[in-house]
Amino acid sequence: MAITEIRPAAAAGATTADTLTVRDDRTGRTYVLPIEHGAIKATDLHAIRSSDEDEGLFTYDPGFMATAAVKSGVTYIDGERGILRYRGYPIEELAERCGFLEVAYLLLHGELPTRDELVGWTYEITHHTFIHENVKKYIDGFHHDAHPMGMLMSTVAALSTFYPEAKRIGDAPLRRRQIARLIAKMPTIAAFAHRHAVGLPYAYPDNDLSYAGNFLNMMWKTTELKYRPDPVLERALEVLFILHADHEQNCSTSAVRVVGSSRADPYSAVASGVGALYGPLHGGANEQVLRMLEEIGSVDRVPEHIARVKRGELRLMGFGHRVYKSYDPRAKLIKKVADQVFAVTGRNPLLDVALELERIALEDEYFVGHKLYPNVDFYSGLIYQAMGFAVEMFPVLFAIGRTPGWLAQWEEGLLDGEQKIARPRQLYIGPPERHLPPA
Ligand code: CMC
Repeated sequence: MAITEIRPAAAAGATTADTLTVRDDRTGRTYVLPIEHGAIKATDLHAIRSSDEDEGLFTYDPGFMATAAVKSGVTYIDGERGILRYRGYPIEELAERCGFLEVAYLLLHGELPTRDELVGWTYEITHHTFIHENVKKYIDGFHHDAHPMGMLMSTVAALSTFYPEAKRIGDAPLRRRQIARLIAKMPTIAAFAHRHAVGLPYAYPDNDLSYAGNFLNMMWKTTELKYRPDPVLERALEVLFILHADHEQNCSTSAVRVVGSSRADPYSAVASGVGALYGPLHGGANEQVLRMLEEIGSVDRVPEHIARVKRGELRLMGFGHRVYKSYDPRAKLIKKVADQVFAVTGRNPLLDVALELERIALEDEYFVGHKLYPNVDFYSGLIYQAMGFAVEMFPVLFAIGRTPGWLAQWEEGLLDGEQKIARPRQLYIGPPERHLPPA
């Protein structure tokens, strides 16, 4: 249905339940806009003009608070009720019963793999985990104190120069090959970035191990002939990857889609996603939570920290979410994982500080009034730290988990005939035309 102008307004009997009727008080004209999937098309507003010279009405929406830029069938979130589903499956069931590669397949293909498909997919990922030795040399070039997110972002971008055929994004089998490469190589680059920072020799992938087990092998292997991951920690990491695998149109996924909309190769698009994830309001939050807990230091200092947050001096990291306004279902699941991990590693001493922060915040009128609850990052850092990861690695772990989601969304955008190159409009508020003074 197209936008129609009603003349005269009294003819508004034409409206149905799926329309929005608006009156432009500048002109006195009334318009009926179709509503589809609970949204009006912003471009329909273009037809609403105050004069012939007028470009038409725009919507102004910094941060995309109320603007859907895509139609997507990948992930569903109901922020009011704390619901998260990948391709229709509740996150609780996936985290309980599936492996990470199974979930990655689901995100990318829309259906869970059959047993044979899973075997083939796992083989494909496992056999793409090695990186070219020149990529290793590239990592060697970083300074010893380079942040691993910066290393990951630029190394992923560099992969596009190793696989120039990735530019042929219209070739479906080739596209799928790059997707497998990216999912396979993220843990290798991440672990190599860590080994470079601490000055350890790189540990190469071990094809006998699971996706998460192999990552632990590349992180921690030293002199043993065969690294054997602790099964509890291996499964915990797998669950954490599943919980991070997709989250619809968040900041980094939008970055991937925006870059992808210019028809850039997937390595460049995913590198932009890593960049967006790096920020402290997004994937960098788990690192900031740990730094915050360390700074608070002890339970008795929690009230003072809460008071500072309420005075607006700082934010409570790991709290709040753009979409979840009741609770973040991932945070609930992560708390369970934390118990399992701490049973193996011993309790993280900062857990008491975190629990007290959570207790006070959940009772406090500021946090209740603002609908601020712990998000996925509040407890993930404590688990990662207990498992031995350096704080700088936390957002890197997030990036490994998020890669299948980025790629599923990238491909969906690419194949969506309604999508165009992303190009937001602006409301110009600068000076009107003026001229240079005479020389
Ligand atoms: N601590 C204190 N106050 C907060 C917080 C917080 N963590 N988050 C939001 N608020 C307040 C904010 O000050 C504002 O108050 P007021 O209306 O009185 O000015 C109100 O709540 C709304 O905040 P907003 O910044 O407009 O909300 P947003 O939807 O743009 O931001 C957010 C969402 C996640 C960026 C924000 O809650 C935040 O900065 N949280 C801390 C960082 C964090 O934990 N990020 C990880 C998000 S989950 C992982 C992921 O998906 O990336």
